[in-house]
Amino acid sequence: MHPGVLHRRFLNDLSSSLFSFVLPLLPTNEELTVKEEVRGLIEKLIKTIEPSARLLSFGSSCNSFGLRNSDMDLVVLIDDPSAGIEPSHFVAMMGDLLERETNFDVKPLPKARIPILKLTLAPSPALPFGIACDIGIENRLAIENTRLLLTYATIDPARVRTLVLFLKVWAKRRRINSPYRGTLSSYGFTLMVLYFLVHVKQPPVLPNLQRIAPITPLSEEQVMLEGRNVYFFDDVETLRQEWSSINYEPVGELLIDFFRFFSHDFQFNNSVLSLRAGQLTKESKGWVNDIDVGGLNEMARDRNRLCIEDPFEVTYNVARTVTKDGLYTIRGEFMRATRILTQRPDRAVLALAELCR
Ligand code: CTP
Ligand code: MG
Repeated sequence: MHPGVLHRRFLNDLSSSLFSFVLPLLPTNEELTVKEEVRGLIEKLIKTIEPSARLLSFGSSCNSFGLRNSDMDLVVLIDDPSAGIEPSHFVAMMGDLLERETNFDVKPLPKARIPILKLTLAPSPALPFGIACDIGIENRLAIENTRLLLTYATIDPARVRTLVLFLKVWAKRRRINSPYRGTLSSYGFTLMVLYFLVHVKQPPVLPNLQRIAPITPLSEEQVMLEGRNVYFFDDVETLRQEWSSINYEPVGELLIDFFRFFSHDFQFNNSVLSLRAGQLTKESKGWVNDIDVGGLNEMARDRNRLCIEDPFEVTYNVARTVTKDGLYTIRGEFMRATRILTQRPDRAVLALAELCR
């Protein structure tokens, strides 16, 4: 058979294998129901401290990139400004309350950069993996970036969700998804995929939602949040009617291209990935890592090895946790993945299994 035909067949095979790979890893309805009940219960308790407080989910429980048994990300929003709540104090109060009133194991971290409360619940028959949940305070930007990710997923769920979910599983299995150990958060990997689909692929698979003008002019307040421009085009219905990609590559092909691009083409040393603005230079952002930090610790020097601009908090490098070694490992994994997917064009299922070993 002609090599081109064989290759086409492999790509189609790879795409359907990706769908089958991801499907059983999605959360069950039962899990989602239990988690929603837990959220409701904690919210009720928190309202006894501050009646205007609401507890919202963000992150993978509501950006459509959730995997089975993933952690819950929750945030307390206090709607009454006259309540005068100080976040670290509120975290401590919530900690005491939940310790008293629930079976959760409670660990307040009031002094963290963003004060949070860590809750864990031991496994039970209804929840064989227990529950782990972080509760933050007043992190309204997180709600907005969750909505941005969800809107991107909604435009082309079959390809976008499959790619991101697979990448997350792959990164976890290959142990490069540990921000506390020098590698990258799921949020960082998700931004890399979206950047690739918006700015690298030609024709693009996704539009740049932060650059589509609003249909009706918005007021200043509608766009600004905590001093950040959080505007993006979120009218999914209009998008569906008026925007469609002319890129029809199967998801398997996009995956290979993704690995190839980050193995060979992206200039990690001097470039910044910006979902908002495309490729930027580290210099233009002042994110250079070779500055002489003198007596400062290793962490400071390592902060800008990999640079991923947050879509709204544009001075924030989402990948600041990635160390020199971490980046070396991540790039090594991109190369390994490219090799496996391009040099073993036999059975796609086997290639995926090997990839995630
Ligand atoms: N977040 C952030 N900055 C980071 C990491 C995370 O603002 N450096 C916020 C984002 O709002 C993100 C949320 O925290 O959506 C959750 O991040 P993360 O846990 O990395 O992603 P999940 O999609 O929840 O993935 P997982 O299923 O692995 O928990
Ligand atoms: Mg999470």
